[in-house]
Amino acid sequence: MSKTIIISNRLPVQLEIHNKEIKSTPSIGGLATGMKSVHSGSNDLWIGWSGLTAENIPTELEKDIDAALKEHGCSKVNLTESEVDGFYFGFSNRTIWPLFHYFLEYAEFELTNWEIYKAVNQKFADEIISKADDDDIIWVHDYQLMLVPQMVKNKKPDISIGFFLHIPFPSYEIFRTLPWREEILLGLLGSDLIGFHTYDYERHFLSSVRRLLRLEVSFNEIHIDNRIVKVDSFPMGIDYKKFSEAGKANSLNTIENQSDFQQRLNAHKESTKNAKLILSIDRLDYSKGIAKRLKAFEYFLNKHPKYKEKVRLIILAVPSRSNVPQYQLLKKEIDELVGRINGEFSTVNWTPIWYFYRSMPFENLIDLYTSCDIAWLTPIRDGMNLVAKEYIATRTDKSGVLILSEMAGSANEMNESLLINPNNFEQTSEALCKAINMPLEEQQERNDILQKRLERYNVEKWANDFINSLKNQKEAGNIYVSRKLSTKLLDSVQNNYTNAKKRLLFIDYDGTLAAFKNDPQKAKPDQELYTLLDEISSQPNTHMYLISGRDKETFTKWFLHKKYNMIVEHGVWISKAGEEFRMLENVKRDWMEKIYPVLESFVDRTPGSFIEEKNYSMAWHYRKTDPDFGQKRATELNTVLTSLIANDDLSVLNGNKVVEIKSSNVNKGRAAMRVFNDDTYDFVFAIGDDWTDEFMFQELPETAITIKVGLQKTAAKYYVDGTKEVRKLLNHFIN
Ligand code: ADP
Ligand code: G6P
Repeated sequence: MSKTIIISNRLPVQLEIHNKEIKSTPSIGGLATGMKSVHSGSNDLWIGWSGLTAENIPTELEKDIDAALKEHGCSKVNLTESEVDGFYFGFSNRTIWPLFHYFLEYAEFELTNWEIYKAVNQKFADEIISKADDDDIIWVHDYQLMLVPQMVKNKKPDISIGFFLHIPFPSYEIFRTLPWREEILLGLLGSDLIGFHTYDYERHFLSSVRRLLRLEVSFNEIHIDNRIVKVDSFPMGIDYKKFSEAGKANSLNTIENQSDFQQRLNAHKESTKNAKLILSIDRLDYSKGIAKRLKAFEYFLNKHPKYKEKVRLIILAVPSRSNVPQYQLLKKEIDELVGRINGEFSTVNWTPIWYFYRSMPFENLIDLYTSCDIAWLTPIRDGMNLVAKEYIATRTDKSGVLILSEMAGSANEMNESLLINPNNFEQTSEALCKAINMPLEEQQERNDILQKRLERYNVEKWANDFINSLKNQKEAGNIYVSRKLSTKLLDSVQNNYTNAKKRLLFIDYDGTLAAFKNDPQKAKPDQELYTLLDEISSQPNTHMYLISGRDKETFTKWFLHKKYNMIVEHGVWISKAGEEFRMLENVKRDWMEKIYPVLESFVDRTPGSFIEEKNYSMAWHYRKTDPDFGQKRATELNTVLTSLIANDDLSVLNGNKVVEIKSSNVNKGRAAMRVFNDDTYDFVFAIGDDWTDEFMFQELPETAITIKVGLQKTAAKYYVDGTKEVRKLLNHFIN
C-alpha cells in the first residue's frame, strides 16, 4: 500500500533530554500545528529534525529517541550543531525568512551558510530516498527544504513530489536579489505540484520562473525537462472541529474544572465589568509587527484617553529563533516598549498591558481565545496566520471581533473581519474604537459567515485538495500529450521507412531543425545539418520538404542551391528541386498597409519586440521582451487585431513568441495536402514544434507519422524532446 511521506524541518514534536529522560513538547508554528491534524501516523511517515543536535544525543539513548518519535509516526534526520547553525539559524532564518517577508535589510548572503543549506537539504533528500517506495507520495514543506524536490526527483524520477510553501513568495524584484535564485527555483521545480497559500504568492513565483529561468509557462503550468509542473494556491485551514469543540468545552466547564489561568482571567473580568480584553498572540518575530502594534496601542491611548482603564492588551509572544540577532534585538525592543507604555499609562487599578513571553499549553491558549473580546493580529507580512482562524473558531456564541492585517495571507479569506494596514496608526486606532463599540449582533453576523467558511475549508479539506491535485497532476502528465518516441517505436518507424516504395517528409525548420535564437537570422543552418538534409533528400523515392513560416528570401539564401524542396511563408510559396519559388496560393497583400502602423505602435511600446515583414504575412516577434510584459502585449495585440481584421479574409496565428497575421486560406496543413495529393505515398512523415505545425498534424491522413518537438498539447501522435533529438531521429533514415 502506498504511503504519504511528509517532510519538514520541524516535526510536530520537539525532543529535549533532561537527566537522561526524553521529554517531548508540541511544536509551535503554523506548519507543525496544522499538519499535525492531517498526519494520521498509522501508514504515513513524517521525516524531520527532532530539535536535538547530534552532539546532544547520547548513543545509549539513540534507540529510545527513535522509539519516542515512532510513537508520533515520525522519523528523524540527525543534524550536527554546525549544520543547525548554518542551515537553520543561518540560511533559512537569516537569508530566506527575512527576504521572503520583504525585510531586505535583514537578509544576509553568506556563501558558507548556502553551502550548508545545500548539504542539509541533501541529507533530508537522502533520508526520503532511502525510505520511499516508487508509488509513495512525497510532500515536502516550507522554505527550509526548497532544494529537496529536485534532489529526490534526480534519484527517483517517477515518484510523485508535492511542495508547499508556508510563507509568502516575494515579488520578482525582491527575489532577484538572492545570489542563488536560479538554484532555488530549480530545486522547487523538481516537484510535480507546488502549492502556495494565496494567488499573489503563486503569481510572484511564476513571474520569477519566467524571468529568471526563461521557462515556458502556460497559465499555471511550467514546462521543464519534458515534464509539466503545476502551480496552484491552497489556503491552509485549521482543525476547525478541534478548536470549536475546545471552545464549547471551555464555556461548559464548571468553576472547579477551570484552569488557574482561566480563573484569573475570570477574576479580572469580574473586577472590571465594562472593560474589554484585547488579545495579541504571535511567535516573537519581526514579521509579526508586535513592536508596531505596541506603538499603535500607545497612539490609541493618547488619541482616545476615554478608553484608559477600559481596555487591557494581553500580549503573548512565543520565544522563537533566539540565536538570531534580529530576534534578540526585537525581544529587547518589546520589553522596553511594554515597560514604557505600562509606566506611562498605569494607574493604581490598571496596567494597560499584560505581557507573557512563553509558550502555553493548548488549554490555556483556548482560555485566552474564549476570554478576549477582541483579537488584534497585525503582522507586517505573514504567509497565512492561523491564530486569526483559531480565534474565530473558538467563539462558540459567535461574539468577538477580529482586527487583522491585510498583509496576512488569511486576510484574503477573512473579509468580514476589520482589515487594516499595520503601518497606518490612524486606521488601526479607529478599528480599535470600532471593535470596542461593535454591537453584539454585528459581531455575530460577521463571525457566522467566517465560521461557516473556516468549517468548510478546514485543514483536512486543504490537505485532501493538495494531495488529490498532486495525484491528478501525475495522471494528467501521462495523458496530456502524445507518446514519447521510444527506441522501440523508432525502430518500427525506421522499418516502415526502409520498406516504403515512396516517401514524403515534411520538416519544419525553427524549433525543429534549428534551436531558437533571439535574432532569427542567427538560426542559420550549420554544416552538420546540411549534410544530414543532403543525405535524406538524395535518397531515391524520397520527397523531402522543408516547410516553414520563414520568408522566401531567407530560404533562397540558405537552401535553394541545395535543391531541397521547400514550402515557405506557411504555404504561400513552393520551390521544387532548386527551381525558383512560385506561388502555391493566390494571396493578397493590400491589407498590410493597414496592419503595419498597428504593429509599429506595439514595437514602440514594447522594448525588445520587432516586426518581420514577409511577402504575404507580417509577424510581430516578442522573444526578446520581458516575458510577462511581452505576453500581456501579445494578448492586447490579439484583441486589437480581432476587431481590425473582422471583414478581411485574414487570420492571426499565435506561434512561439510571435503573433503572425496572414491570409486565412494559407496554412501548412493545406500546403502539405496539396503536395500529398499530387502523388501516391506509402510513407508520410511530418515533424514540427509550433502551433502552426498543428495544421499539418491535423490534415495529413491518419496513417501519417506525425511528431511534435517538445512536450505540449498536440494533435501529433508522438513527441521528441528537442532539436538535438530531431537530428538523431532523422539520422535513422540515412543509416
Ligand atoms: P507562524 O506559523 O508564523 O508561527 P501562525 O499563526 O500561522 O504563525 O501559527 C501559529 C501556531 O502556533 C498556531 O497554530 C497557534 O495555535 C500556535 N501558537 C501560537 N502561540 C502559541 C503559544 N503561546 N502556545 C502554544 N501555541 C501557540
Ligand atoms: C513558520 C514557518 C515554519 C516554522 C514555524 C516556526 O510557521 O513557516 O516552517 O516551523 O514558523 O518556526 P521555527 O523556526 O521554530 O520552526
